[in-house]
Amino acid sequence: MADRATIRRLKELRAEINLHNHRYHTLDDPLVSDAEFDALMRELRAIEEADPSLVTPDSPTQRVGSAPSERFAEVVHPQPMLSLANAFDGGELAAWHKRAATLLETERFAMVCEPKIDGLAIALTYEDGRLVRGATRGDGTRGEDVTANVRTIRTVPLVLQGKPPRRMEVRGEVYFPRDAFKRMNQQRAEAGEPLFANPRNAAAGALRQLDPRITASRRLDVWVYQLGWTEGRDGPGTHAEVMAWLGGFGLRVNPEMTTVASLDEAEAYHERWLGRRAEVNYQTDGIVIKIDRRDFQRHMGFVGREPRWAIAYKFPAEQATTRLLRIEVNVGRTGTLNPYAVLEPVQVSGVTVKQATLHNEDDIRRKDIRVGDVVIVERAGEVIPQVVGPVLEFRTKAQVPYEMPERCPVCSTPVVREEGEAAHRCVNARCEAQAYERLKHFVSRGAMDIEGLGERLVGVLLEAGLIEDFPDIYRLEAEQLAALDRMGEKSAANLIAAIEASKQRPLAAIIAGLGILHVGGETAVLLAKRFGGVPRLAAAAQEDLESIDGIGPIVARAIVAHFENEGNARIVAELGAAGVRLESDETPTAATPQPFDGLRFVVTGRLETFTRSQVEAYIKERGGAVSSGVSKKTDYVVAGVDPGTKRDDAERLGVATIGEAELVELASADAP
Ligand code: IVH
Repeated sequence: MADRATIRRLKELRAEINLHNHRYHTLDDPLVSDAEFDALMRELRAIEEADPSLVTPDSPTQRVGSAPSERFAEVVHPQPMLSLANAFDGGELAAWHKRAATLLETERFAMVCEPKIDGLAIALTYEDGRLVRGATRGDGTRGEDVTANVRTIRTVPLVLQGKPPRRMEVRGEVYFPRDAFKRMNQQRAEAGEPLFANPRNAAAGALRQLDPRITASRRLDVWVYQLGWTEGRDGPGTHAEVMAWLGGFGLRVNPEMTTVASLDEAEAYHERWLGRRAEVNYQTDGIVIKIDRRDFQRHMGFVGREPRWAIAYKFPAEQATTRLLRIEVNVGRTGTLNPYAVLEPVQVSGVTVKQATLHNEDDIRRKDIRVGDVVIVERAGEVIPQVVGPVLEFRTKAQVPYEMPERCPVCSTPVVREEGEAAHRCVNARCEAQAYERLKHFVSRGAMDIEGLGERLVGVLLEAGLIEDFPDIYRLEAEQLAALDRMGEKSAANLIAAIEASKQRPLAAIIAGLGILHVGGETAVLLAKRFGGVPRLAAAAQEDLESIDGIGPIVARAIVAHFENEGNARIVAELGAAGVRLESDETPTAATPQPFDGLRFVVTGRLETFTRSQVEAYIKERGGAVSSGVSKKTDYVVAGVDPGTKRDDAERLGVATIGEAELVELASADAP
């Protein structure tokens, strides 16, 4: 039960938020910044989450619900995007087939079997053969306009081949290819960033990025699996023919589709895919079986949001239950304490799992995972197994909440948890566990790429006292190496040569290798481009760093802090002295000029193509600033319908008033 003070606060928050909503949306005269408003919403949400019985239908938290995010324009699907009914075993599949046979008054109908891609649904609209829109499914009726992002997917044709209908919508699944997903997570792990749980979440995250350049860097892909609607001319009469027809326009259609004549054949397809699913570069969670003839499909229709003419025949879940024996902690390269579960070994889809990640203390708390619990373990995609949560039915009094260790398990230094960070950290730069992880990272492929210097050898060299930190690697001598176990003269000489060669690695690789908190491969590339050398990077101020697209305040602060540390500065100097090239041959770029650099805008009235937050984001992304009141410093007032007093203010002060179209035009003019 919530106490009186909480209930009072809850009421206050709701009243305040309602007021701000009204000021903002209706009166166009906000009293607080977006950030202040968000903080109020967060506080309210936290209270309601802690005690869901307090949620009422009129709470401001309920208004947002699961509607599409405000950041993208809303798209109303001309025809709803449907979902699929599921069958989890042969019996359920047979029941579906039988109902279909009854409705069609025949048992003789062909079906198409195809992989069920585990990504997210997309609708692509083409007009006169040109891609005009990409929209997410959203709630099936309304989705989000993600055209700019969809355009970055290389396999989505921007212009179709052949003679497509005048207007047409095709549907398919956007997904994160497994290999690209694995690579991205590796980079995130190296940068100490949280990993994406599975390719599906990662794909959704990438597709719903406000910055299409980030989407582009994620290498998404697409399979088209359905014709939405056409204008001008309809497609062929069967699903299989439609797919071939769409393929002819250059759309990416899965060649694994097969037409079958019977339920047995569909079962065999399912069985075959279950065995083959690991072979393909996309994640599948089942197969989809569709009745081939489109006139049959129309005849059968829908129930709710699910067509009667198709079914998802799912693969068994990649989950299992087992006992959590212990929680142990290892120390990462940047000193983060990573808790992991030691499990009673269990088979999860054919693989024995003995350990699973637990992320951090908050995650353990949130899921309420306790030592001794029976837990659900999941293997999602390529990611290390995870503990999904406890099976509370098996909980006894013996299981108590977990506490993170107060000291580093390796060097016993007290651990710290900085404000706003999820991770506990060992801050002892000389911690042996960190040294090992840092060195392993430094020599790895994404960094200095020293062939022959793998994990094992790093451990051996550390133990033998031959290296402590990066520069020591460049002081190694062939004789020292040759004297080590399992090392001959030949391999010692090879290793020395590889170490020598690494001195010429590209600047981004060196920056990535330094092990700066939050700086992985992608960020290192940005930094190398901008600064052209480690010394200039080391001297950069927080603002310089933050002005780089793709680098936020947290990363900027981490970089500054890294080079402020004397030990780190010494390492850079010693690497330079050892002959490691710390400069790139390319000239560094200045900050990319933006069309609205230095311009101040005030927005007033109702706009037609943007919501309020969209237009603000649009301006800020292009380097402009948005203020709430018109002053002499204002460069432009963007006025929509019913602009109110601000337009008068503009006139009085001689500030230019423009409309939405002019704003967009201004953005595409040459950057200053
Ligand atoms: S057909 C009207 N085919 O699965 C039926 N869907 O769980 C439309 N999906 O929302 C879907 N692969 O996003 C179809 N080969 C495939 C699919 C597929 C993945 C997704 C789709 C749908 C979801 C339903």
